[in-house]
Amino acid sequence: MEPETPPVGPLNVFDYERLARERLPAGAWAYYADGAGDRVTLRENRAAFERIQIVPRMLRGVKTADTRTTVLGTAVGVPLLVAPMAAQGLACAEGEVATARAAGATGTLMIAATEANRPLAEIAAAATGPLWYQLYVYQGRRAMAERHVRAAEAAGCRALVVTVDAPRWGRKETSERDEFVLPAGMGWGNFERDADDISLEPAALAWDDVDWLRSLTALPLVLKGLLAPEDAREAVARGVDGIVVSNHGGRQLDGVPASITALPAIVAAMDGRCEIYLDSGIRRGTDALKALALGARAVLVGRPVLWGLAADGADGARRVLGLLRDELELAMALAGVGSVAEVAEIGAGLLRMG
Ligand SMILES: Cc1cc2nc3c(=O)[nH]c(=O)nc-3n(C[C@H](O)[C@H](O)[C@H](O)COP(=O)(O)O)c2cc1C
Repeated sequence: MEPETPPVGPLNVFDYERLARERLPAGAWAYYADGAGDRVTLRENRAAFERIQIVPRMLRGVKTADTRTTVLGTAVGVPLLVAPMAAQGLACAEGEVATARAAGATGTLMIAATEANRPLAEIAAAATGPLWYQLYVYQGRRAMAERHVRAAEAAGCRALVVTVDAPRWGRKETSERDEFVLPAGMGWGNFERDADDISLEPAALAWDDVDWLRSLTALPLVLKGLLAPEDAREAVARGVDGIVVSNHGGRQLDGVPASITALPAIVAAMDGRCEIYLDSGIRRGTDALKALALGARAVLVGRPVLWGLAADGADGARRVLGLLRDELELAMALAGVGSVAEVAEIGAGLLRMG
């Protein structure tokens, strides 16, 4: 008898995207996939990465690359962090608990979201790697924000990531047209009254709120969602420790530049004064390499983690992160850079901008 050829599993994150689409109910799929408006920014997040070319260095004797680095002093095995994303319970029953296991197994950290389905304490109990906490501040609810910050401290989170690009929710028309609403029975782990609190209005934060948050906690403070160098300069002046250059995965204001396009001016403005991370559109290890070469300390991976979760729970999310890690390691070796520090050293010299 002929030996059976083993089926070829998913080879990249796009294979996981297809699996997720097959397995998720249409409404949940649309909620995860959606972008704001005409989705120009959503598409640009990919297109901008594709325009940048890598100019590899040869004859440097690099066979394997070391992907380890640190973020705000915390060691990670790979500069791919898990982006904060609401409602991971739509992807699999374990929700954020599964994501925490996957992040730990990959040797990286997860940014746990305020709008998680599972309580932060449960996520922290399951986590085998470090956690950061993403904070949404809601209109008129500073006391709630403070409660969430204290919970993050108690859970051992190592940084507070405040999302600043959402004074209101962006309009995502596919989910609106399908009248998708998050399932009524869905639990919101970080809110006392399940359904009511999640319909809270986000606050239109201002710089004095950043001062307030800075005074509230000794945790390193990261602002997520900046695109303008002027804002990055102000953030550093206010004692912020890190910023995430992000357009929220194209889900807030349509027509803004891809984060990777906005990154160089922010890196130049910061001049090493704070750590800079990037998200929106990371789908390949080569995308991460490009962001690192342009000065990002690490990148955040968003939807691909949800695709892995939807395809196969914690194992799926772990494999997605593992694929991206392996792709990054291979890309570094083929580009002749043996470590994350070497990528930073050669910097934009490793790229040709399209
Ligand atoms: C379904 C979904 C939910 C999200 N929820 C949050 C959230 O609660 N807080 C937040 O700061 N960002 C949230 N984001 C944005 C992500 O943190 C991240 O910026 C974005 O997904 C990165 O882009 P990518 O999906 O192209 O990788 C969400 C994104 C998605 C896709």
